[in-house]
Amino acid sequence: PKTEFIAELLSKMTLDEKLGQLNLPTSGDITTGQSTSSDVARKIAEGKVGGLFNIKSVQKIREAQKIAVEKSRLKIPLIFGMDVIHGYETTFPIPLGLSCTWDMNLIERSAQIAAQEASADGINWTFSPMVDISRDPRWGRVSEGSGEDPYLGSQIAKAMVNGYQQNDLSKNNSILACVKHFALYGAPEGGRDYNTVDMSHIRMFNDYFPPYKAAVDAGVGSVMASFNEVDGIPATGNKWLMTDVLRKQWGFKGFVVTDFTGIPEMIAHGMGDLQTVSAMSLNAGVEMDMVGDGFLSTLKKSLDEKKVTIEAIDNAVKLILEAKYDLGLFHDPYKYCDDKRAKTEIFTADSRKEARQIAAQSLVLLKNQNQALPLKKSGTIALIGPLADAKENMPGTWSVATKMENAISLLAGIKEVAGNSTKVLYAKGSNLDYDETFETNATMFGKTLHRDPRSKEELLAEALKVAEQSDVIVAALGESAEMSGESSSRTNLEIPQAQKDLLNALLKTGKPVVLVLFDGRPLVINDENATVSAILNVWFAGSEAGYAIADVLFGDVNPSGKLTTTFPRSVGQIPIYYAHKNTGRPLSNTEGKFEKFRSNYIDERNEPLFPFGFGLSYTTFEYSNLKISSDKMNFSDKLKVTVDVSNTGNFDGKETVQLYIRDLVGSVTRPVKELKGFQKITLKKGEKQTVTFEITVENLKFYNSDLQSVAEPGQFDIFVGGSSTADKKVSFELTK
Ligand code: IFM
Repeated sequence: PKTEFIAELLSKMTLDEKLGQLNLPTSGDITTGQSTSSDVARKIAEGKVGGLFNIKSVQKIREAQKIAVEKSRLKIPLIFGMDVIHGYETTFPIPLGLSCTWDMNLIERSAQIAAQEASADGINWTFSPMVDISRDPRWGRVSEGSGEDPYLGSQIAKAMVNGYQQNDLSKNNSILACVKHFALYGAPEGGRDYNTVDMSHIRMFNDYFPPYKAAVDAGVGSVMASFNEVDGIPATGNKWLMTDVLRKQWGFKGFVVTDFTGIPEMIAHGMGDLQTVSAMSLNAGVEMDMVGDGFLSTLKKSLDEKKVTIEAIDNAVKLILEAKYDLGLFHDPYKYCDDKRAKTEIFTADSRKEARQIAAQSLVLLKNQNQALPLKKSGTIALIGPLADAKENMPGTWSVATKMENAISLLAGIKEVAGNSTKVLYAKGSNLDYDETFETNATMFGKTLHRDPRSKEELLAEALKVAEQSDVIVAALGESAEMSGESSSRTNLEIPQAQKDLLNALLKTGKPVVLVLFDGRPLVINDENATVSAILNVWFAGSEAGYAIADVLFGDVNPSGKLTTTFPRSVGQIPIYYAHKNTGRPLSNTEGKFEKFRSNYIDERNEPLFPFGFGLSYTTFEYSNLKISSDKMNFSDKLKVTVDVSNTGNFDGKETVQLYIRDLVGSVTRPVKELKGFQKITLKKGEKQTVTFEITVENLKFYNSDLQSVAEPGQFDIFVGGSSTADKKVSFELTK
């Protein structure tokens, strides 16, 4: 019936009505606080709107839907989108933080709760998951992705799509997902947002495409085009990308939406006028025009001039109607407009509890000298820093539906978890920086931090007074949420100077200093790493962040997050990632000593400060007895790799056991290591477990110079351990 229903509907549509379905204006609600404008309302009634986004609340969504299904001629319901990126009102850690849980069940669960809440509030389409691989932390949007690795990124893409769509869009609590930004958005030159991307096809297919493909394989219903060019043609108008790769090679069956004004932006890219770029986009395989107004205003003319075909327009309309059909909107346009659900299913105690648990798993312990952590629930703690009592800073970038006033600050969390026998003193210590820009810059969602009018001397004096009375100092420093995310590229990745000065003053007191580091990207923290006692990297952990961080600081939860992105020693090392090539002139020493005429720097080591996969626990884990079931395998064999992991410390804990391969000789050069398996296990103090991985030929495949996915016979090394520096090794040969 779906096919016939849509064919019949299409046959009744005028050209204007067809173009209307391809049009996605913004309601503006979230950024302006205004309801749907009269201009948009008129267009809906005229059948010139296919969907709306940035509109929040059942009431406003019902009003807009009512216009579509009561006033427009064909009564076609609208689809309602929103950037539900890491939760709705209950907010989870930013995606980069979520990825550091390495727990696919938790990640899927976070997307499911997000879908539950969004759908209870009228939303049926999210612009997530964002799966752009990035190896350049200067780019502010690394915060929105899952880090640098295609294998891990693919698992996460799948988990997120499953969480949102639940393999069943007919449910009232699942929503359509939109994988973005297709493609390569995470590789702009110089890390500058929206900048040119230029890379080889072999790198695209091996390193950057896999997570998008994984989302398609998981049945994602929509794809968002990226702003950047790919092979000299903007993604929004790139036929090779949208048709040859996405549809023909990968079999994508849903619809493609532009990213905001992606179509008119092609004018600035130098691709022609609005009519030309709109036709180019449709012909490339893009179906929905977000905000650009190019399809609505020019496709008719292009059809008259034979620059586009009616078949291409019909096909685009069909794909959008199919999504609406799958969501059940033709059956009940108000399916997601349930006041009762809106009152009972959003920001519930249960969702918040899960968000707190998930957030605690995302935190990464980078240093813990002399077991400075966990903190004792006794004595006096001085909590100092501009991010200590800043609830609006907790949820992180793209928390569009969050109510900032409900977020839990670190101060509130510590007070709650520390209990009555601990004295908690607080001082701000400094503003984010001496430069007011960090607080006062107009931000996308206006969630800026309050700038303290006191002088730096006054702020410091108060902090030192508090510090002197304490047994331990917890310094809450780093980036504000708006310093990463869209349009927040940086060339300096250090903690802002005002906060560095504060930290140095605190260190001079001689008290142990625990750094709670907020960031939306890897920062350059050599100085801090050399001086403080402990570093807990907390990203932006969502609405429950304060509780989750306190749970870990006091040891109620043992940290288990592992980095999914490399922390460089200096900006000059970027791009830096573990799965690099060996080059023809690798270093011959492992101590990082400079070697002339070898691939290294005269002023910096090659290794990062903290590698991919790294993260400490309050306990320790030891790996032993790494074994492989055979030293030969053919293309249909399966090998078993086993390793014993023991909890040798004093706490129960979780460890992510990671398996990497190296393909020693290939028809094209292969990375020195590639993640091909991981398991997160829980071990009680003193407990030992044998972890088993299976190796099949699928794990050994890569795209060769003909862009064929192949495994090649030859020698492989396997490394297993707790990070990408794992050095326990076994080897085998793949034979024909
Ligand atoms: O989904 C986003 C995208 O990631 C960036 N540009 C705007 C879109 C819709 O808000």
